[in-house]
This record gives sequence, C-alpha cells and structure tokens, in this order.
Amino acid sequence: MNILQKVSSLEKEAFKIREIAQRDKEKLIEFFLSLSDETKYILNGSGFTFQDATGYAESAFHPLTRSLIVEISGKIVGEARYVFIFPGITIMAEVGIVIHESFQGKGLGKKLLMKLIKDGIKMGVRKFQLYVDVNNKKAINLYKSVGFKANETILDGDRTLYYMTLYIPR
Ligand SMILES: CC(C)(COP(=O)(O)OP(=O)(O)OC[C@H]1O[C@@H](n2cnc3c(N)ncnc32)[C@H](O)[C@@H]1OP(=O)(O)O)[C@@H](O)C(=O)NCCC(=O)NCCS
Repeated sequence: MNILQKVSSLEKEAFKIREIAQRDKEKLIEFFLSLSDETKYILNGSGFTFQDATGYAESAFHPLTRSLIVEISGKIVGEARYVFIFPGITIMAEVGIVIHESFQGKGLGKKLLMKLIKDGIKMGVRKFQLYVDVNNKKAINLYKSVGFKANETILDGDRTLYYMTLYIPR
C-alpha cells in the first residue's frame, strides 16, 4: 500500500454516515451557519440568517423527511435528505444534499447520496426528483453519476433550474 492509498484508507475510516438524531440539531445548525456564502446562496438564494439555518435543521426532523449526515471526528460535514411527496400511486421523494466546502471533491457527496437513495428504495420510493441550477455543474455531475437524468428546465426568479429524476424499476 503506497502512501496515497494509506491516506485515503485513513480518510475512509474517519468518516461516518448515519441517520440524523434529535441530539444532532444544534450541530446541524452550526453546520449550516459554517457554510460559505456561495453554498448558502445555492441552498437559500440571497440571505441566510440564523433563522434560516434553524429552519433547515428543524425540517430534517419532519415526519415526511429522512436525513442522513456525514460526520468526521464528531463534526457534521455533510447532510442529505429526501422528502416524501404525495399523492400518486408512485412513491416519490425530493432530494437535497450539501457537503462542507472543506470536504468537497473527496467522494463524500457520492457516498452520501448513494446511501440516501438506498434508504429511499428500502422505504419504497420509486421516483426521486430534484431541481438544480443549470450552472451548478458539480451537483449536476454528482446526480448524473448516480443515475439521475436531466429533463426540462424551469425558471425560478432569476435562476434556470433543471428538473432531474431517477426512476427505480420494480
Ligand atoms: C454537489 C456536492 C454535494 C458534491 O459533493 P462532493 O463531496 O464534492 O462530491 P464527490 O467528491 O462525491 O464527487 C461526486 C461527483 O460529483 C462531480 N463533481 C465533484 N466535484 C466536481 C467539480 N469540481 N466539477 C465537476 N464535477 C464535480 C463528479 O461527477 C464526481 O464524480 P467523479 O469523482 O466520479 O467524477 C457539493 O459540491 C456541494 O455540497 N455543493 C453545494 C451544495 C449543492 O450544490 N447542493 C446541490 C443543490 S441541488
């Protein structure tokens, strides 16, 4: 094993992906507040107050939401969630994900998203969907890498968003 492989295997041991728990709420608020302005803008448009961060954190515990976090040394460095959407015969869920800038590009986003989708499939989700800014190449590539397809675009204020979907065959 060369030094690079050692470092990457150490990194693998150091992170943990798990379901969010009530005790994580304060840490999740801190996590959202610690994001860069650019990432906050992606999540919430302009302006991201303490109330916004609290709202984001609290919504992770909504009964129709499933949220997974990535932890490194006890600190939250990423969160992904899906929200069940009704009605319809197909069980649908809307997906969101964020990894702290200091930990991006290391494969954590993909691992977290794959776990989230596995969890959704276990819960019966047959269609995942999301909206992503057409300029957010990192996120679009991430979603495509796990099988999402970009469909039509929609306008959201001054932003153009792709509507992306992932269907799970029966
Ligand atoms: C999108 C995001 C979650 C990706 O997380 P990440 O941990 O950096 O992603 P990974 O390292 O696991 O990379 C997964 C895939 O994303 C794509 N990707 C990652 N970094 C990229 C970059 N700089 N440019 C282009 N594509 C990139 C690649 O397809 C990559 O797969 P590959 O390594 O097999 O080529 C992260 O950039 C983020 O939190 N962005 C801000 C929030 C956001 O945009 N959320 C989505 C809103 S809809």
